[in-house]
Amino acid sequence: MRHTPALLALLLGSSLPQLALADVVTGIPDSAPAGFEEWISPIVLPSPNTTGQGNWASSVARARAFVAKLTLAEKINVTTGVDVLDRCVGNTGTIPRLGWKGLCLQDSPIGVRFADFVSAFPAGVNAASTWDRDLIEKRGYAMGSEHKGKGVNIVLGPGTNLGRVAAGGRNWEAFGADPFLAGVATAASIEGYQSAGVIATVKHLIGNEQEHFRGGSEAGQVESSNIDDRTLHEVYAWPFAEAVKAGVAAVMCSYNFINQTQACQNSKIINGLLKEELGFQGFIMSDWAAMINGLQPAIAGLDMNMPGFVGYGIGDQNQPDPSTATNSWWGAQLSNMVNNGSLSETRIDDMVTRIFASWYQLGQDKDYPDVSFSQLTQETYLNGVLVNEHVNVQADHYKLIREIGAASAILLKNTNNALPLKVKNLKRIGIFGSDAGANADGPNVCATGQGDHGCSQGTLAQGWGSGTASFPYLIDPLSAIGAHIRSINPTVVVDGITDDFNLNAISAAASLADTCLVFVNSDSGEGYITVDGNAGDRTNLTLWHNGENVIQATASHCPNTIVVAHIVGPVLVESWIDHPNITAFINAGLPGQESGNSIVDVLFEDGDQATNPSGRLPYTMAKARGDYNADVLYKSTDKVPQITYSEALEIDYRHFDANNVEPRYEFGFGLSYTTFAYSGLKTSKSGGLFGRAAEHQTTTTAQSSSSTTLRVPASPGLSSTTTSSSTTLSVPASPSLSSKSASTSASAPTSTSVSVSVSVSVSASASASASASASASASAAASSASASISGSASASAPSSSTVSAPPALSSPINPIGGPTSLYETVATVSFTIKNTGHLAGHEVPQLYLGFPASAGEPPKVLRGFARELIGAGSSTHVSLELRRKDVSVWDVVKQEWVIPEGKFEVMVGSSSRDIKLRGSLEF
Ligand code: BGC
Repeated sequence: MRHTPALLALLLGSSLPQLALADVVTGIPDSAPAGFEEWISPIVLPSPNTTGQGNWASSVARARAFVAKLTLAEKINVTTGVDVLDRCVGNTGTIPRLGWKGLCLQDSPIGVRFADFVSAFPAGVNAASTWDRDLIEKRGYAMGSEHKGKGVNIVLGPGTNLGRVAAGGRNWEAFGADPFLAGVATAASIEGYQSAGVIATVKHLIGNEQEHFRGGSEAGQVESSNIDDRTLHEVYAWPFAEAVKAGVAAVMCSYNFINQTQACQNSKIINGLLKEELGFQGFIMSDWAAMINGLQPAIAGLDMNMPGFVGYGIGDQNQPDPSTATNSWWGAQLSNMVNNGSLSETRIDDMVTRIFASWYQLGQDKDYPDVSFSQLTQETYLNGVLVNEHVNVQADHYKLIREIGAASAILLKNTNNALPLKVKNLKRIGIFGSDAGANADGPNVCATGQGDHGCSQGTLAQGWGSGTASFPYLIDPLSAIGAHIRSINPTVVVDGITDDFNLNAISAAASLADTCLVFVNSDSGEGYITVDGNAGDRTNLTLWHNGENVIQATASHCPNTIVVAHIVGPVLVESWIDHPNITAFINAGLPGQESGNSIVDVLFEDGDQATNPSGRLPYTMAKARGDYNADVLYKSTDKVPQITYSEALEIDYRHFDANNVEPRYEFGFGLSYTTFAYSGLKTSKSGGLFGRAAEHQTTTTAQSSSSTTLRVPASPGLSSTTTSSSTTLSVPASPSLSSKSASTSASAPTSTSVSVSVSVSVSASASASASASASASASAAASSASASISGSASASAPSSSTVSAPPALSSPINPIGGPTSLYETVATVSFTIKNTGHLAGHEVPQLYLGFPASAGEPPKVLRGFARELIGAGSSTHVSLELRRKDVSVWDVVKQEWVIPEGKFEVMVGSSSRDIKLRGSLEF
């Protein structure tokens, strides 16, 4: 898919949607290669207009009024970016006539990328490791305040892809491998960001689970994430649904294909899932240069093209007026599409309405700060123009960063209470490993010159790629531990050795020390940067920088060896973890700028901010890489490598449970310096539970049109003579994402029948013309899991198209987040926890459900948690609420959430395998 300038000129000049010909224009889904025929994404048209429902009413009304004043050129300036040479990583055009300055879009999910005087927060994976909704929300608020303070309108976070594969390069940006935990963290982050006034962007919709073949303008091969409908709903879309429910105003589609159709032109995902089923009122933007076509995404529901140009390094990279920009899939092309009748201007109106509604919704029309930094430089002037006012937005966020750094540290081993340490008990301590020390080139510099933290030098406190921020400073562990020890007893000998390959020196110092700390790490990042052979995704799950040997050299001489790992995700520890001299192990994740201070708080009990650890694993740490049931696809010769999510619902711990695989450390695991006892489990159902199925629609606001007329220029796949056909379809009540259903589908077949009328007419200009119209009467039969089509709907299809996929149907628009009843409490689980030790500490009780066997769910799924501070000897009563959605499964036939019949097992514990209390519930 790398475009040469000549090819590009041909593509744009001809105005033809040459790439990905099938789909919304022809009405026929993109076809699948042999053997993958069931992995097809159906077409959902038309793109629904924002309805202004819920608390969006006034913002949408104001947006509509504003949009009514705009010319087509001005509207285009709102939908298309001005490329990447402006002050933010994404910038829309402006509307000078009305004094509208445009929007600044800026990464990242851990701070304001590329800016000075900003904070570098703990990574998403650390936020999730706290299992603390309040802390996660505070983190979102603090980051949102920094973005707003710099004049950013739209923050490009949070990321909430799920860590399907342990080596996934960007897993650290997101919230771990469980949809419920990720959903809570995503919603809390969004509430935090948006209460600060910045528009949050949940990304990447969807199936962006690895970096190899992820796609983008430079990609020669782009993978198709093949996800069945039930898995999509119950696993990968879950956090996105929580984001919409939480009021997120922006969404970013991903680079990859989903069931053969590129995510930013996938009408099932954007029109069907996001805008209809989840009732999303805001706007959806492309990932950067993710678009591979202009017309298809517009019809499929995309609202904003970022950063504007066709691709990195392709054609003119600086077209500051989008309405005249020709090196763009949109820009001037959008007006051509309207003028030649391929696209209705009402679709553009809705794009712009959604963008302005989000702007009003967040109150950005009043006193919003102007952009005061430049992503291009931290200098004050660029080419003689003032671009950086060096506004300091850090406030006292370092305190929160330190707190979250400590709260996210996961204590995985602590033999005979080796931890916490006390300075007064130390005489000589060895601190080993490059991860203990500073980056000699400075915290933001790579010796290779690579930006975006694309290297691993010194202690690791964030990964690499667009999900990064400049450290204002980085407190390394060696300095912080040394400073802490000196503040109490300056006579302690501290041997710090940061050369990972000087094992002789390490062994010698280790044999003299009474306590040894070994710092190791493992890094990863976004695929456009390769570090030490890791093209985003990690090539292995072992430690970097000779880590295993540093640990062995230390442990073979030092009887009290404590290992601290700064890691992006799971690492393998089998070669050293059971060494008798290794007394403790902490997974500290990526703690951000206060790293050293945070680890001091956890390691030592004699500091001002000593913290009893309570972090819990947001993923499983396996004994062997092969114990995970899914892995990165690194090699393929296919143009569209097929990545089928055949493990379906069984990702991470769900697989380990279902298949009796013993992990090294299970999901949800983490120790404390104190002990807790659980008692008194009670379960109670809430009144007013009315039926098993969540009502499919509670509000339906009619959209502008239930049929759409699409006129496209002729393309080679269209017949040159006009054809018209009428088709009768027999289909499930509503199409599933893919015609394949999860094999674990639980729903007892029932009968529903709906009548849907779809009219798609395609007429070609130039020398050819074709039109097809279909009137569909859909009747869901119990046994009918896939569509059968009679008639000649494929009359105008390219020969490679398949007719086996579900047809194009659109549904009414749900309330924001889906049917309201899904979010109502249906049961409460309560219990008591007592701190039975001698130290106050946080406990993280976790509620897992075992669904009735007929539901076909994994043995346990997380459906609730809390983080409770409990004083030594004290007790706390904990009450966790279950929402209808939490006890439902996605019924692929009915296309709705249904509570399965039978007994639910209720399991409460301190990890996914340390279940302390059991009870049951029946609905
Ligand atoms: C990433 C996005 C990011 C965007 C802008 C893309 O490469 O996938 O997550 O927000 O760039 O920097």
